[in-house]
Amino acid sequence: MNQQTKNDRAAWLQGSLAKCSAPPVETQSPWRVVLLGAPGVGKGTQADLLQERLGACHLSTGDVFRAVGSKGACEPTPAMKTALEYMRAGALVPDTTVWEMVRERSGCIRCGGGFILDGFPRTLAQAEALKKHMESEGLSLSAVVNYELPLTEIVARLSGRRTCEKCKSVFHVTNQPPKQEGVCDRCGGRLFQRDDDRPESITVRLEAYERSTAPLIRFYKDLGLLVSVPADGPPDEICANTINALEAFTPQDDRGH
Ligand code: AP5
Repeated sequence: MNQQTKNDRAAWLQGSLAKCSAPPVETQSPWRVVLLGAPGVGKGTQADLLQERLGACHLSTGDVFRAVGSKGACEPTPAMKTALEYMRAGALVPDTTVWEMVRERSGCIRCGGGFILDGFPRTLAQAEALKKHMESEGLSLSAVVNYELPLTEIVARLSGRRTCEKCKSVFHVTNQPPKQEGVCDRCGGRLFQRDDDRPESITVRLEAYERSTAPLIRFYKDLGLLVSVPADGPPDEICANTINALEAFTPQDDRGH
């Protein structure tokens, strides 16, 4: 991946007809990694850091739904409109809608630069669909990272999060404040609070995580792919721990192809 230019992930965010501004460089042993962990544990923050260090692209399903819902985007389909209602309430979007959206973007899954999936899969049905799809393409996951953090810290991180409406960079009002309040350090865009970071949606999201997403830990453990990493401490330290854990876990020859 070009380290100087931040990839706009256009093909992922807008669909397969769009072109990425700086697609990742194809390598013989790309990283194909899934990030698991409760809402607010720091998956997006880590995916951004890992993207720079591993060269693989950050693919977030939540970012796609937010891009569809943002002003100026083209008219969303009825399925997408329903998806946005689920998302704003903090509930999971139905599996069929999610899988349809990921399948339309399967070029990003195939991409020779690899990927860091953030927020997908989120249910056993999604995990099975991804596994089947990757097997049919002759691909395999390098590893699945599970980030762990106490609940009180998770709620504090979600309540103080601010996101850039242009480049999607993530800040926190106290933990990672921008240099100028309300303005993105990277692109100067306006920072906003996500609808689903309000207290009533946070509770629904954490319940949905326990019910639907936590069982994925067992699923990937049984497949021998799970790597657990504590998510407390500064982001750079967590990122370094993640890379150490990934490299210890996945020899280059076994990273899939
Ligand atoms: P999505 O966007 O995936 O949200 P999420 O999984 O709930 O995760 P978050 O983005 O809230 O948190 P994060 O772990 O990325 O934390 P972050 O790095 O931002 O999904 C949103 C919704 O879309 C879902 O609820 C659902 O409706 C729908 N959806 C998406 N995918 C779906 C799917 N596959 N199936 C069904 N529905 C789906 O960090 C949080 C805050 O903490 C930030 O402010 C950050 O600055 C701060 N922070 C991060 N790291 C640290 C640190 N080390 N120390 C201190 N502060 C930190």
